Amino acid sequence: MDTQLLESILIRQLKTGEAPPYKLLLDADPSLEAISRYLEVSDIYVGLLKDKVIAAFVLYRTDADTIEIKNIAVDDSVQNRGIGWLLLNTATQIAISKGAKSLIIGTSNSSVAQLYLYQKNGFEITGIKHNFFADNYPEPIFENGIQCKHMIMLAKPLQLNN
Ligand code: ACO
Repeated sequence: MDTQLLESILIRQLKTGEAPPYKLLLDADPSLEAISRYLEVSDIYVGLLKDKVIAAFVLYRTDADTIEIKNIAVDDSVQNRGIGWLLLNTATQIAISKGAKSLIIGTSNSSVAQLYLYQKNGFEITGIKHNFFADNYPEPIFENGIQCKHMIMLAKPLQLNN
């Protein structure tokens, strides 16, 4: 963790008219079509370092009690320094402030580091969408030598203040 770096980051919601950070969003989800679909109905948050967008996450309300992190990404140049952790904690606080009881996230069976990070941050595996990537993406995707086939769903219960 890089405390000095983390203290320099400002996280805020993207304003109307500002362009979504597509390059970052495509790092987390290779389907521009899928991204465009959920951006229309989601809130986009960006992390700024010296006015430059270096991170992003997207929150979508799936039902009255649940908010999903549809996309989360940190620029390559500043990964592994605690920003992903900061984004997860910020998303958690936002979900609590919006009255959600659960924050959920889905990632591939092959995304080993992401599965590690999310579980360490308090998410637990709740289900598997079998062949989600194999069925919905045009080309086979490989990561860490493993085929990206299934979507692993995780959930974090949220403590409500009232
Ligand atoms: N306390 C404990 N552990 C911490 C803390 C803390 N305060 N801060 C960081 N860490 C740890 C993490 O748990 C992890 O542990 P490790 O050091 O033992 O490996 C490590 O620090 C890395 O975490 P971060 O540095 O916070 O993660 P990073 O900034 O690299 O962001 C992310 C993670 C978003 C997955 C990034 O690698 C990325 O953008 N990857 C490409 C896109 C992607 O795959 N996105 C997710 C797809 S799934 C989806 O979008 C729904």
